[in-house]
Amino acid sequence: MKIKRVGFVGWRGMVGSVLLTRMRDEADFDVIEEPVFFSTSQTGQAGPEIGSQQTRLHDAFDLQQLSAMDVIVTCQGGDYTTQVFKVLREEGWRGYWIDAASSLRMTDHSVIVLDPVNRELIDQALDNGVRDFIGGNCTVSLMMMAMAGLLKADLVEWISVMTYQAASGAGARAMRELLTQMAALCVATAPLLEDPAAVILDIDRLAIEAMRGASFPVANLGAALAGNLLPWIDRIADNGQSREEWKGYVECNKILGRQQNPIAIDGLCVRIGAMRCHSQALTVKLCVDLGMDEIRGRLAEANDWVRVVENTPQHSITELTPSHVTGTLEVAIGRLHKMRMGPEYLTAFTVGDQLLWGAAEPLRRMLKLLLQR
Ligand code: HSE
Repeated sequence: MKIKRVGFVGWRGMVGSVLLTRMRDEADFDVIEEPVFFSTSQTGQAGPEIGSQQTRLHDAFDLQQLSAMDVIVTCQGGDYTTQVFKVLREEGWRGYWIDAASSLRMTDHSVIVLDPVNRELIDQALDNGVRDFIGGNCTVSLMMMAMAGLLKADLVEWISVMTYQAASGAGARAMRELLTQMAALCVATAPLLEDPAAVILDIDRLAIEAMRGASFPVANLGAALAGNLLPWIDRIADNGQSREEWKGYVECNKILGRQQNPIAIDGLCVRIGAMRCHSQALTVKLCVDLGMDEIRGRLAEANDWVRVVENTPQHSITELTPSHVTGTLEVAIGRLHKMRMGPEYLTAFTVGDQLLWGAAEPLRRMLKLLLQR
């Protein structure tokens, strides 16, 4: 099928904006004959400028207009997918659906896309007529980009993963609220902070009082994140897990195409006060005792974006941090060393941008792949 018309829904939100920026940077629009922009609320208004063309917005609920697309790329969220996808398919639409939301990830008819890890699976699916390609959970995609060298070679028996997830994963409002909380802490502590003679425990008391106070801004995050952390992400799942933790296991194995022979992956997902980089501390049980040089080599060679950071204090605090990695396509992995539990036990720490490889980039590359077929 020659792809002519590509529809974009939810392009103005955070993931959508990052996607469009990446597409402009990579000149992806040069190979799209007709990009069409949809809106759930601003039909008829001006859309984004693409090259010298000014686009107009179409109604994102107009099934007839949507049906005219060869590909639909949506970052609009799960509610939109639930409302529109099934009806479109029932009406006979046979285009490709590329989606950032989780709604369709675990369905039989979809593939979770992360092409540096599962390109073969994507190609096979395309050959078999699969038309639904869904971006993975950000934490899962970032962990897999970092660990691809060991995962793809089937060298991992299990992984225990403890996450340090950024505010961006909870949405744009959560990022704003995190900064507002930081500002509130500054305001509350300013009188003493400016006084070099002030006692630190008194300053701390002011911060805690502000954090626990009724006027502390928590409408989006549900609790203080600045100066704090939140050891629960998403809804409750079975057996004491959060849904975010459940996704780690099911999505990772689906991406690897090993649902019949899954790797055990489990751990706790924690929100911390970083802006848009998710970090994860891994305990890995390897299938065999590999040497550290081989481990580092396999990890580094797995794809163009993973970067192995030397396990030194200086490298770790400068290069293996959200502030260093943010806004880049690099997925850093460091703190690599064997653990006391035995020679098959490896520990690692990884950091990646939640909006790039964690969300927009796998979708952008899936679209590109379709356009190049
Ligand atoms: N669920 C993730 C988070 C982001 O809350 O950080 C989306 O994958």
